[in-house]
Amino acid sequence: MADLLVYGTPNYWYGPSAKMKLLMDRMRPYGVSKKLRGKKAIIISPAAEGPKVSGPLVEMLRLSFDYLGMELVGKVLGTAYDKGEIKNDKKAMNQAYDLGASF
Ligand SMILES: Cc1cc2nc3c(=O)[nH]c(=O)nc-3n(C[C@H](O)[C@H](O)[C@H](O)COP(=O)(O)O)c2cc1C
Repeated sequence: MADLLVYGTPNYWYGPSAKMKLLMDRMRPYGVSKKLRGKKAIIISPAAEGPKVSGPLVEMLRLSFDYLGMELVGKVLGTAYDKGEIKNDKKAMNQAYDLGASF
């Protein structure tokens, strides 16, 4: 099994997408089996309004990782609305590159 999991979700209504929420709902058994303990996690999330609105999304996932015994080791919170627009956010693109290169 992988040592590191990347959680990518757009910011929908200041939280994760319904698909990501469904995935997290299905991860409940891993709290009991402890199979994800010690795993690292990264959050990648664009929002039209940018990183300033991503606090609740990050906190929800961080608490969930805590519960699962995982460690949040990095995040990239970009500013984008339309497909491909994230490429204009040089800061987020560089953060993603540096984060990827650091493992
Ligand atoms: C249903 C929906 C809700 C959204 N809610 C927010 C929001 O609360 N704050 C924000 O900054 N952007 C919001 N956005 C913008 C998305 O975060 C942004 O467009 C993102 O890049 C979409 O990724 P996607 O193309 O994978 O859906 C929303 C977009 C959609 C479709």
